[in-house]
Amino acid sequence: MNNSDLAIVILAAGKGTRMKSSLHKVLHPLGGRPMLHHLMDTASPLKPERNVIVVGAGKEQVEASVGHMADIVVQEPQLGTGHAVQVTKDKLHDFKGDVLILYGDVPLITQDTMQKMIDTRASSGAAVVVLGFTPADAKAYGRLKVNDSGNLDAIIEFKDASEEERAIALCNSGIMSLSGEHMFELLDALDDNNAAKEFYLTDVVEIANKKGLNCAVVEADEQEVMGVNSRSELAEAEDVYQTSRRQYFMDEGVTLTDPSSVYFCHDTKIGCDVTIAPNVFFGPGVTIADNVTIHSFSHLEGASVGEGSSIGPFARLRPAAELGKGVKVGNFVEIKKAEVEDGAKISHLSYVGDARVGKNANIGAGTITCNYDGYFKYHTDIGEGAFIGSNSALVAPVTIGDGAIVGAGSVVTMAVEADALAIARGKQRSLGGWATKFRTDQQKKKKNKG
Ligand code: UD1
Ligand code: CA
Repeated sequence: MNNSDLAIVILAAGKGTRMKSSLHKVLHPLGGRPMLHHLMDTASPLKPERNVIVVGAGKEQVEASVGHMADIVVQEPQLGTGHAVQVTKDKLHDFKGDVLILYGDVPLITQDTMQKMIDTRASSGAAVVVLGFTPADAKAYGRLKVNDSGNLDAIIEFKDASEEERAIALCNSGIMSLSGEHMFELLDALDDNNAAKEFYLTDVVEIANKKGLNCAVVEADEQEVMGVNSRSELAEAEDVYQTSRRQYFMDEGVTLTDPSSVYFCHDTKIGCDVTIAPNVFFGPGVTIADNVTIHSFSHLEGASVGEGSSIGPFARLRPAAELGKGVKVGNFVEIKKAEVEDGAKISHLSYVGDARVGKNANIGAGTITCNYDGYFKYHTDIGEGAFIGSNSALVAPVTIGDGAIVGAGSVVTMAVEADALAIARGKQRSLGGWATKFRTDQQKKKKNKG
Protein backbone atom coordinates (compact mmCIF):
# COMPACT_ATOMS: atom_id res chain seq x y z
CA MET A 1 0.00 0.00 0.00
CA ASN A 2 1.17 3.48 -0.76
CA ASN A 3 0.79 5.71 2.28
CA SER A 4 2.68 8.63 0.85
CA ASP A 5 -0.19 10.96 1.71
CA LEU A 6 -0.74 10.39 5.38
CA ALA A 7 -0.99 12.88 8.23
CA ILE A 8 -1.33 11.94 11.88
CA VAL A 9 -3.23 14.11 14.34
CA ILE A 10 -2.93 13.17 18.01
CA LEU A 11 -5.49 14.73 20.35
CA ALA A 12 -4.02 15.42 23.75
CA ALA A 13 -5.65 18.60 25.02
CA GLY A 14 -7.71 16.87 27.69
CA LYS A 15 -6.88 17.85 31.28
CA GLY A 16 -5.95 14.38 32.47
CA THR A 17 -7.16 15.35 35.96
CA ARG A 18 -7.71 11.77 37.08
CA MET A 19 -4.00 10.95 36.71
CA LYS A 20 -3.27 13.43 39.55
CA SER A 21 0.11 14.13 38.04
CA SER A 22 2.36 17.06 37.21
CA LEU A 23 3.47 15.06 34.19
CA HIS A 24 1.29 15.44 31.10
CA LYS A 25 -0.98 12.41 30.79
CA VAL A 26 0.29 11.37 27.36
CA LEU A 27 3.88 11.37 28.64
CA HIS A 28 3.25 8.65 31.19
CA PRO A 29 5.17 5.59 30.05
CA LEU A 30 4.14 2.11 29.00
CA GLY A 31 7.02 -0.33 28.69
CA GLY A 32 9.35 2.58 29.45
CA ARG A 33 8.12 4.78 26.60
CA PRO A 34 5.65 7.69 26.79
CA MET A 35 2.18 6.84 25.44
CA LEU A 36 2.55 9.63 22.91
CA HIS A 37 5.69 8.03 21.51
CA HIS A 38 3.98 4.65 21.27
CA LEU A 39 1.50 6.24 18.89
CA MET A 40 4.13 8.01 16.82
CA ASP A 41 6.38 4.96 16.68
CA THR A 42 3.47 2.71 15.67
CA ALA A 43 2.53 5.11 12.89
CA SER A 44 6.07 5.76 11.74
CA PRO A 45 6.42 2.73 9.39
CA LEU A 46 3.37 4.15 7.54
CA LYS A 47 5.60 7.17 6.83
CA PRO A 48 3.26 10.02 7.75
CA GLU A 49 4.18 13.24 5.98
CA ARG A 50 2.98 15.32 8.90
CA ASN A 51 2.53 14.70 12.61
CA VAL A 52 0.39 17.18 14.51
CA ILE A 53 -0.24 17.04 18.25
CA VAL A 54 -3.06 19.05 19.80
CA VAL A 55 -2.35 20.08 23.38
CA GLY A 56 -3.94 22.28 26.02
CA ALA A 57 -1.94 22.78 29.19
CA GLY A 58 1.56 21.35 29.38
CA LYS A 59 2.64 22.29 25.86
CA GLU A 60 6.28 22.74 26.99
CA GLN A 61 6.45 19.20 28.36
CA VAL A 62 5.08 17.71 25.17
CA GLU A 63 7.37 19.88 23.05
CA ALA A 64 10.42 18.85 25.07
CA SER A 65 9.49 15.22 24.62
CA VAL A 66 8.81 15.16 20.87
CA GLY A 67 11.27 17.81 19.66
CA HIS A 68 11.08 18.21 15.91
CA MET A 69 9.18 14.98 15.37
CA ALA A 70 5.81 16.75 15.37
CA ASP A 71 4.06 20.09 15.05
CA ILE A 72 2.34 21.14 18.22
CA VAL A 73 -0.91 23.08 18.13
CA VAL A 74 -2.51 24.59 21.20
CA GLN A 75 -6.25 24.26 21.69
CA GLU A 76 -7.38 26.84 24.24
CA PRO A 77 -10.13 26.69 25.39
CA GLN A 78 -11.06 23.08 24.76
CA LEU A 79 -14.45 23.02 23.13
CA GLY A 80 -14.62 19.35 22.21
CA THR A 81 -12.99 16.74 19.99
CA GLY A 82 -14.27 18.38 16.78
CA HIS A 83 -12.86 21.72 17.87
CA ALA A 84 -9.55 19.99 18.67
CA VAL A 85 -9.24 18.92 15.04
CA GLN A 86 -10.45 22.30 13.76
CA VAL A 87 -7.44 24.00 15.38
CA THR A 88 -5.05 22.02 13.16
CA LYS A 89 -6.23 24.05 10.16
CA ASP A 90 -3.04 26.11 9.93
CA LYS A 91 -1.02 22.95 9.61
CA LEU A 92 -3.32 20.88 7.43
CA HIS A 93 -5.56 23.15 5.34
CA ASP A 94 -3.62 22.24 2.19
CA PHE A 95 -3.35 18.53 2.95
CA LYS A 96 -5.30 16.28 0.63
CA GLY A 97 -4.33 12.78 1.76
CA ASP A 98 -5.51 10.61 4.66
CA VAL A 99 -5.74 12.27 8.07
CA LEU A 100 -5.63 9.76 10.88
CA ILE A 101 -7.01 11.13 14.15
CA LEU A 102 -5.56 9.36 17.20
CA TYR A 103 -6.08 9.94 20.91
CA GLY A 104 -2.94 10.54 22.95
CA ASP A 105 -4.41 8.48 25.76
CA VAL A 106 -5.33 5.49 23.56
CA PRO A 107 -1.80 4.20 23.03
CA LEU A 108 -2.15 0.54 22.11
CA ILE A 109 -3.58 0.79 18.61
CA THR A 110 -1.58 -1.40 16.21
CA GLN A 111 -0.01 -0.59 12.88
CA ASP A 112 -2.25 -3.24 11.26
CA THR A 113 -5.37 -1.42 12.40
CA MET A 114 -4.07 1.92 11.19
CA GLN A 115 -3.29 0.34 7.84
CA LYS A 116 -6.73 -1.29 7.71
CA MET A 117 -8.38 2.10 8.19
CA ILE A 118 -6.30 3.64 5.42
CA ASP A 119 -7.00 0.68 3.11
CA THR A 120 -10.72 0.81 3.86
CA ARG A 121 -10.89 4.46 2.97
CA ALA A 122 -9.11 3.75 -0.30
CA SER A 123 -11.22 0.72 -1.22
CA SER A 124 -14.64 2.07 -0.14
CA GLY A 125 -14.10 5.67 -1.19
CA ALA A 126 -15.50 6.72 2.20
CA ALA A 127 -14.77 10.25 3.38
CA VAL A 128 -14.70 9.09 6.99
CA VAL A 129 -13.59 5.75 8.44
CA VAL A 130 -14.31 5.23 12.13
CA LEU A 131 -12.64 2.67 14.34
CA GLY A 132 -15.37 0.81 16.20
CA PHE A 133 -15.28 -1.89 18.84
CA THR A 134 -17.71 -3.99 20.81
CA PRO A 135 -16.79 -3.73 24.49
CA ALA A 136 -17.99 -6.10 27.17
CA ASP A 137 -19.52 -3.06 28.87
CA ALA A 138 -20.56 -0.30 26.47
CA LYS A 139 -20.57 2.31 29.27
CA ALA A 140 -20.90 5.88 28.00
CA TYR A 141 -19.12 5.39 24.68
CA GLY A 142 -20.63 6.90 21.57
CA ARG A 143 -22.69 4.35 19.57
CA LEU A 144 -22.19 3.62 15.88
CA LYS A 145 -25.31 3.50 13.71
CA VAL A 146 -24.55 1.30 10.72
CA ASN A 147 -27.22 0.72 8.09
CA ASP A 148 -28.06 -2.55 6.29
CA SER A 149 -25.63 -1.87 3.47
CA GLY A 150 -22.77 -1.34 5.95
CA ASN A 151 -22.58 2.44 5.67
CA LEU A 152 -22.00 4.30 8.93
CA ASP A 153 -24.92 6.74 9.16
CA ALA A 154 -24.16 8.48 12.44
CA ILE A 155 -22.33 8.41 15.75
CA ILE A 156 -24.62 9.12 18.66
CA GLU A 157 -22.99 10.35 21.85
CA PHE A 158 -24.26 8.50 24.90
CA LYS A 159 -25.56 11.70 26.50
CA ASP A 160 -27.64 12.38 23.40
CA ALA A 161 -28.74 8.81 22.68
CA SER A 162 -32.25 7.35 23.00
CA GLU A 163 -32.83 4.07 24.87
CA GLU A 164 -32.90 2.28 21.54
CA GLU A 165 -29.60 3.82 20.44
CA ARG A 166 -27.97 3.02 23.78
CA ALA A 167 -28.79 -0.64 23.11
CA ILE A 168 -26.38 -0.65 20.15
CA ALA A 169 -23.32 -2.77 21.01
CA LEU A 170 -20.92 -1.26 18.45
CA CYS A 171 -19.10 1.67 20.05
CA ASN A 172 -16.89 4.53 18.93
CA SER A 173 -13.22 4.25 19.89
CA GLY A 174 -12.81 7.89 18.81
CA ILE A 175 -10.07 7.02 16.32
CA MET A 176 -10.97 8.15 12.85
CA SER A 177 -9.52 8.47 9.38
CA LEU A 178 -10.68 11.44 7.30
CA SER A 179 -10.19 12.43 3.73
CA GLY A 180 -8.04 15.57 3.69
CA GLU A 181 -10.06 16.74 0.68
CA HIS A 182 -13.20 17.01 2.79
CA MET A 183 -11.98 17.31 6.36
CA PHE A 184 -12.24 21.06 6.95
CA GLU A 185 -15.41 21.36 4.93
CA LEU A 186 -16.97 18.80 7.32
CA LEU A 187 -15.44 20.37 10.44
CA ASP A 188 -16.63 23.85 9.45
CA ALA A 189 -20.19 22.55 9.54
CA LEU A 190 -20.01 21.39 13.20
CA ASP A 191 -22.06 23.07 15.90
CA ASP A 192 -22.30 22.63 19.66
CA ASN A 193 -25.99 22.06 19.72
CA ASN A 194 -25.91 18.94 21.93
CA ALA A 195 -26.08 17.71 25.50
CA ALA A 196 -22.45 18.57 26.27
CA LYS A 197 -22.45 21.92 24.41
CA GLU A 198 -19.26 20.76 22.66
CA PHE A 199 -18.13 20.57 19.07
CA TYR A 200 -18.25 16.81 18.58
CA LEU A 201 -15.84 15.29 16.06
CA THR A 202 -18.31 12.45 15.79
CA ASP A 203 -20.82 14.73 14.04
CA VAL A 204 -18.70 14.75 10.89
CA VAL A 205 -20.28 11.38 10.07
CA GLU A 206 -23.81 12.72 9.75
CA ILE A 207 -22.56 15.81 7.97
CA ALA A 208 -20.66 13.70 5.43
CA ASN A 209 -23.69 11.52 4.80
CA LYS A 210 -25.84 14.60 4.21
CA LYS A 211 -23.31 15.74 1.63
CA GLY A 212 -23.66 12.37 -0.13
CA LEU A 213 -20.28 11.09 1.08
CA ASN A 214 -19.88 7.57 2.47
CA CYS A 215 -18.66 6.63 5.93
CA ALA A 216 -17.31 3.23 6.93
CA VAL A 217 -16.38 1.31 10.08
CA VAL A 218 -13.32 -0.80 10.83
CA GLU A 219 -13.47 -2.92 13.97
CA ALA A 220 -10.76 -3.38 16.58
CA ASP A 221 -10.31 -5.40 19.68
CA GLU A 222 -11.46 -3.81 22.92
CA GLN A 223 -7.95 -4.00 24.43
CA GLU A 224 -6.43 -2.22 21.47
CA VAL A 225 -8.54 0.88 21.99
CA MET A 226 -8.49 1.05 25.76
CA GLY A 227 -8.10 4.56 27.10
CA VAL A 228 -5.82 5.62 29.94
CA ASN A 229 -7.40 8.18 32.25
CA SER A 230 -6.12 7.09 35.66
CA ARG A 231 -3.18 5.32 37.24
CA SER A 232 -5.15 2.11 37.45
CA GLU A 233 -5.98 2.26 33.74
CA LEU A 234 -2.29 2.95 33.14
CA ALA A 235 -1.47 -0.25 35.02
CA GLU A 236 -4.09 -2.12 32.99
CA ALA A 237 -2.61 -0.84 29.74
CA GLU A 238 0.88 -1.80 30.94
CA ASP A 239 -0.42 -5.29 31.59
CA VAL A 240 -1.88 -5.54 28.08
CA TYR A 241 1.37 -4.22 26.62
CA GLN A 242 3.57 -6.58 28.64
CA THR A 243 1.40 -9.54 27.70
CA SER A 244 1.93 -8.77 24.04
CA ARG A 245 5.70 -8.32 24.49
CA ARG A 246 5.97 -11.65 26.33
CA GLN A 247 4.04 -13.39 23.59
CA TYR A 248 6.25 -11.75 20.97
CA PHE A 249 9.48 -12.96 22.59
CA MET A 250 8.19 -16.49 23.11
CA ASP A 251 7.17 -16.57 19.45
CA GLU A 252 10.72 -15.49 18.59
CA GLY A 253 12.33 -18.38 20.48
CA VAL A 254 12.83 -17.05 23.99
CA THR A 255 11.93 -19.29 26.94
CA LEU A 256 10.10 -17.47 29.72
CA THR A 257 9.69 -19.84 32.64
CA ASP A 258 7.06 -17.60 34.22
CA PRO A 259 6.08 -15.02 31.57
CA SER A 260 3.88 -12.93 33.83
CA SER A 261 6.80 -12.04 36.11
CA VAL A 262 9.13 -10.76 33.40
CA TYR A 263 8.92 -7.07 32.42
CA PHE A 264 10.20 -5.85 29.10
CA CYS A 265 10.93 -2.39 27.80
CA HIS A 266 9.66 -1.25 24.41
CA ASP A 267 13.19 -1.48 22.96
CA THR A 268 14.40 -4.75 24.55
CA LYS A 269 16.22 -6.93 22.02
CA ILE A 270 16.67 -10.64 22.68
CA GLY A 271 18.28 -13.33 20.55
CA CYS A 272 17.33 -16.94 20.06
CA ASP A 273 17.41 -19.72 22.68
CA VAL A 274 17.61 -17.30 25.55
CA THR A 275 16.12 -18.49 28.83
CA ILE A 276 14.71 -15.98 31.27
CA ALA A 277 13.86 -17.20 34.75
CA PRO A 278 11.03 -15.71 36.84
CA ASN A 279 11.18 -12.12 38.09
CA VAL A 280 13.51 -10.39 35.67
CA PHE A 281 13.17 -6.69 34.79
CA PHE A 282 14.39 -5.01 31.61
CA GLY A 283 14.77 -1.24 31.62
CA PRO A 284 15.51 0.72 28.43
CA GLY A 285 18.31 -0.12 26.03
CA VAL A 286 19.03 -3.79 26.67
CA THR A 287 20.34 -6.18 24.03
CA ILE A 288 20.75 -9.90 24.73
CA ALA A 289 22.52 -12.19 22.25
CA ASP A 290 21.72 -15.87 21.59
CA ASN A 291 21.97 -18.67 24.17
CA VAL A 292 22.05 -16.44 27.21
CA THR A 293 20.50 -17.44 30.52
CA ILE A 294 19.18 -14.76 32.84
CA HIS A 295 18.48 -16.08 36.30
CA SER A 296 15.83 -14.79 38.67
CA PHE A 297 15.67 -11.32 40.20
CA SER A 298 18.04 -9.68 37.78
CA HIS A 299 17.59 -6.04 36.77
CA LEU A 300 19.07 -4.91 33.45
CA GLU A 301 19.18 -1.45 31.94
CA GLY A 302 21.24 0.03 29.09
CA ALA A 303 23.33 -3.14 28.92
CA SER A 304 24.38 -5.59 26.24
CA VAL A 305 25.05 -9.26 26.93
CA GLY A 306 27.08 -11.44 24.55
CA GLU A 307 26.31 -14.92 23.33
CA GLY A 308 26.28 -17.78 25.81
CA SER A 309 26.62 -15.60 28.90
CA SER A 310 24.98 -16.27 32.24
CA ILE A 311 23.52 -13.49 34.38
CA GLY A 312 22.31 -13.60 37.96
CA PRO A 313 20.43 -14.58 40.03
CA PHE A 314 20.22 -11.13 41.67
CA ALA A 315 22.46 -9.37 39.16
CA ARG A 316 22.22 -5.72 38.27
CA LEU A 317 23.47 -4.54 34.91
CA ARG A 318 23.43 -0.75 34.62
CA PRO A 319 23.89 1.54 31.64
CA ALA A 320 26.92 0.87 29.44
CA ALA A 321 27.61 -2.55 30.91
CA GLU A 322 28.91 -4.32 27.81
CA LEU A 323 29.44 -8.01 28.24
CA GLY A 324 31.21 -10.19 25.68
CA LYS A 325 30.62 -13.86 24.90
CA GLY A 326 30.53 -16.53 27.58
CA VAL A 327 30.69 -14.05 30.42
CA LYS A 328 29.48 -15.02 33.86
CA VAL A 329 27.94 -12.44 36.17
CA GLY A 330 26.73 -14.08 39.35
CA ASN A 331 24.68 -13.13 42.38
CA PHE A 332 24.76 -9.67 43.93
CA VAL A 333 27.03 -8.29 41.24
CA GLU A 334 26.53 -4.75 39.93
CA ILE A 335 28.14 -3.68 36.68
CA LYS A 336 28.08 -0.14 35.34
CA LYS A 337 29.86 1.40 32.35
CA ALA A 338 32.27 -1.48 32.00
CA GLU A 339 33.46 -3.64 29.18
CA VAL A 340 33.62 -7.24 30.30
CA GLU A 341 35.43 -9.23 27.65
CA ASP A 342 34.77 -12.77 26.46
CA GLY A 343 34.93 -15.50 29.07
CA ALA A 344 35.44 -13.22 32.06
CA LYS A 345 33.84 -14.26 35.35
CA ILE A 346 32.49 -12.01 38.07
CA SER A 347 30.68 -14.58 40.09
CA HIS A 348 29.77 -13.11 43.46
CA LEU A 349 29.14 -9.90 45.38
CA SER A 350 31.11 -7.39 43.31
CA TYR A 351 30.85 -3.83 42.05
CA VAL A 352 32.55 -3.21 38.72
CA GLY A 353 32.12 0.35 37.40
CA ASP A 354 34.08 2.50 34.91
CA ALA A 355 36.26 -0.46 34.04
CA ARG A 356 37.49 -2.96 31.53
CA VAL A 357 37.69 -6.59 32.55
CA GLY A 358 39.97 -8.45 30.12
CA LYS A 359 39.26 -11.71 28.39
CA ASN A 360 38.98 -14.72 30.74
CA ALA A 361 39.82 -12.64 33.81
CA ASN A 362 38.44 -13.89 37.10
CA ILE A 363 37.13 -11.40 39.60
CA GLY A 364 36.95 -12.86 43.09
CA ALA A 365 33.99 -12.54 45.43
CA GLY A 366 33.55 -9.11 46.97
CA THR A 367 35.87 -7.24 44.62
CA ILE A 368 35.10 -3.54 44.35
CA THR A 369 36.36 -1.03 41.82
CA CYS A 370 36.62 2.18 43.87
CA ASN A 371 35.74 4.46 40.97
CA TYR A 372 34.59 7.65 42.71
CA ASP A 373 36.26 10.10 45.07
CA GLY A 374 33.15 12.16 45.70
CA TYR A 375 33.99 14.49 42.80
CA PHE A 376 35.19 12.53 39.78
CA LYS A 377 35.00 9.04 38.34
CA TYR A 378 38.12 7.07 37.43
CA HIS A 379 38.84 4.03 35.30
CA THR A 380 40.08 0.58 36.29
CA ASP A 381 41.72 -1.58 33.66
CA ILE A 382 42.00 -5.29 34.36
CA GLY A 383 44.07 -7.25 31.83
CA GLU A 384 43.39 -10.47 30.04
CA GLY A 385 43.50 -13.55 32.26
CA ALA A 386 44.09 -11.54 35.42
CA PHE A 387 42.97 -13.05 38.71
CA ILE A 388 41.67 -10.71 41.40
CA GLY A 389 41.57 -12.30 44.86
CA SER A 390 38.40 -12.04 46.90
CA ASN A 391 37.55 -8.89 48.81
CA SER A 392 39.98 -6.69 46.92
CA ALA A 393 39.50 -2.97 46.52
CA LEU A 394 40.92 -1.64 43.26
CA VAL A 395 41.34 2.09 43.80
CA ALA A 396 40.94 3.83 40.45
CA PRO A 397 42.62 5.02 38.36
CA VAL A 398 44.55 1.78 38.38
CA THR A 399 45.77 -0.86 35.93
CA ILE A 400 46.12 -4.58 36.51
CA GLY A 401 48.31 -6.14 33.82
CA ASP A 402 47.50 -9.23 31.75
CA GLY A 403 47.86 -12.44 33.74
CA ALA A 404 48.53 -10.64 37.01
CA ILE A 405 47.29 -12.00 40.33
CA VAL A 406 46.05 -9.80 43.16
CA GLY A 407 46.10 -11.42 46.59
CA ALA A 408 42.79 -11.62 48.41
CA GLY A 409 41.93 -8.67 50.60
CA SER A 410 44.27 -6.28 48.80
CA VAL A 411 43.72 -2.56 48.49
CA VAL A 412 45.40 -1.87 45.16
CA THR A 413 46.41 1.76 44.60
CA MET A 414 49.29 1.35 42.15
CA ALA A 415 49.61 -0.30 38.75
CA VAL A 416 50.28 -4.05 38.80
CA GLU A 417 52.52 -5.24 35.99
CA ALA A 418 51.60 -8.17 33.76
CA ASP A 419 52.03 -11.63 35.32
CA ALA A 420 53.05 -10.15 38.72
CA LEU A 421 51.58 -10.99 42.10
CA ALA A 422 50.39 -7.96 44.03
CA ILE A 423 49.57 -8.22 47.69
CA ALA A 424 48.53 -5.04 49.42
CA ARG A 425 47.38 -5.93 52.89
CA GLY A 426 48.87 -6.22 56.38
CA LYS A 427 51.48 -8.97 56.50
CA GLN A 428 50.36 -11.98 58.52
CA ARG A 429 52.26 -12.71 61.75
CA SER A 430 51.95 -15.80 63.92
CA LEU A 431 52.89 -15.83 67.62
CA GLY A 432 53.35 -19.43 68.83
CA GLY A 433 51.44 -20.35 72.00
CA TRP A 434 50.02 -16.80 72.36
CA ALA A 435 46.41 -17.98 72.39
CA THR A 436 47.00 -20.56 75.11
CA LYS A 437 48.73 -18.01 77.35
CA PHE A 438 45.95 -15.49 76.70
CA ARG A 439 43.24 -17.94 77.76
CA THR A 440 45.10 -18.96 80.92
CA ASP A 441 45.64 -15.32 81.95
CA GLN A 442 42.05 -14.33 81.32
CA GLN A 443 40.61 -17.31 83.17
CA LYS A 444 42.78 -16.49 86.19
CA LYS A 445 41.60 -12.84 86.18
CA LYS A 446 37.98 -13.87 86.05
CA LYS A 447 38.35 -16.28 88.99
CA ASN A 448 40.05 -13.62 91.19
CA LYS A 449 37.24 -11.12 90.47
CA GLY A 450 34.45 -13.64 91.18
C1 UD1 B 1 -15.11 10.56 22.72
C2 UD1 B 1 -16.13 10.36 21.61
C3 UD1 B 1 -16.97 9.11 21.90
C4 UD1 B 1 -16.09 7.92 22.08
C5 UD1 B 1 -15.03 8.19 23.17
C6 UD1 B 1 -14.02 7.08 23.22
C7 UD1 B 1 -16.67 12.59 20.81
C8 UD1 B 1 -17.66 13.67 20.81
N1 UD1 B 1 -16.97 11.53 21.51
O1 UD1 B 1 -15.83 10.86 23.89
O2 UD1 B 1 -17.89 8.88 20.86
O3 UD1 B 1 -16.84 6.77 22.41
O4 UD1 B 1 -14.30 9.40 22.88
O5 UD1 B 1 -13.21 7.25 24.34
O6 UD1 B 1 -15.65 12.68 20.13
N2 UD1 B 1 -9.72 16.19 23.46
C9 UD1 B 1 -9.10 17.33 23.03
N3 UD1 B 1 -9.77 18.51 23.04
C10 UD1 B 1 -11.04 18.61 23.48
C11 UD1 B 1 -11.69 17.44 23.95
C12 UD1 B 1 -11.00 16.25 23.91
O7 UD1 B 1 -7.93 17.27 22.63
O8 UD1 B 1 -11.58 19.73 23.47
C13 UD1 B 1 -9.00 14.91 23.44
C14 UD1 B 1 -8.76 14.33 24.81
O9 UD1 B 1 -7.49 14.70 25.30
C15 UD1 B 1 -8.81 12.83 24.55
C16 UD1 B 1 -9.75 12.70 23.36
O10 UD1 B 1 -9.78 13.96 22.76
O11 UD1 B 1 -7.56 12.31 24.15
C17 UD1 B 1 -11.15 12.25 23.76
O12 UD1 B 1 -11.72 13.18 24.62
P1 UD1 B 1 -12.79 12.80 25.72
O13 UD1 B 1 -13.25 14.03 26.37
O14 UD1 B 1 -12.30 11.72 26.57
O15 UD1 B 1 -13.96 12.24 24.77
P2 UD1 B 1 -15.29 11.55 25.24
O16 UD1 B 1 -16.25 12.58 25.63
O17 UD1 B 1 -14.99 10.48 26.19
CA1 CA C 1 -13.11 9.70 27.26
